[in-house]
Amino acid sequence: MSEPISRREFIKGATAVIGGLITAVIGIPTVAYLIDPALKESAKEDWIPVGKLEEMPVGKPAPFSFTRVQVNGWERTATSHGGFVIRKSEDPKDLLILNSRCTHLACTVNWSENDQVYLCPCHDAKFGKQGEVLDGPPPRPLDRFTDFRVTDEGVLEIFYREG
Ligand code: FES
Repeated sequence: MSEPISRREFIKGATAVIGGLITAVIGIPTVAYLIDPALKESAKEDWIPVGKLEEMPVGKPAPFSFTRVQVNGWERTATSHGGFVIRKSEDPKDLLILNSRCTHLACTVNWSENDQVYLCPCHDAKFGKQGEVLDGPPPRPLDRFTDFRVTDEGVLEIFYREG
């Protein structure tokens, strides 16, 4: 036979239950709100801001990078992307935008100011200023971001498509 609980015990228990409910009601949405941007899947295609055009020097590759998040069930994968903006003149439309992913096995190439080439550290490939293959195993030139625009605030955006 169970013993009747005292008024004090009942109030203690009820307070604990109500307190727990209040914490859950307030806490769960708050935590979800705070971490939501990090968990959200990136769109399959999107305009990506890569920097202020006026801050990119003419004739010298300006590096940029961005991250995309893919969701597969409970698994979330963040992928880094990047490239180089080369302003060919003062004309804001006169741009060459190269993808920094090597066309051999997808390592990231780096611009060498001394040698005026893009170097791939994985298998010593070299790409010229236009992204053309100069040396090494890559089967084709560096890919290009061909769709871009400049916002009213002067920010260069590239069009990214997953694939
Ligand atoms: S990944 Fe760049 S040369 Fe192999």
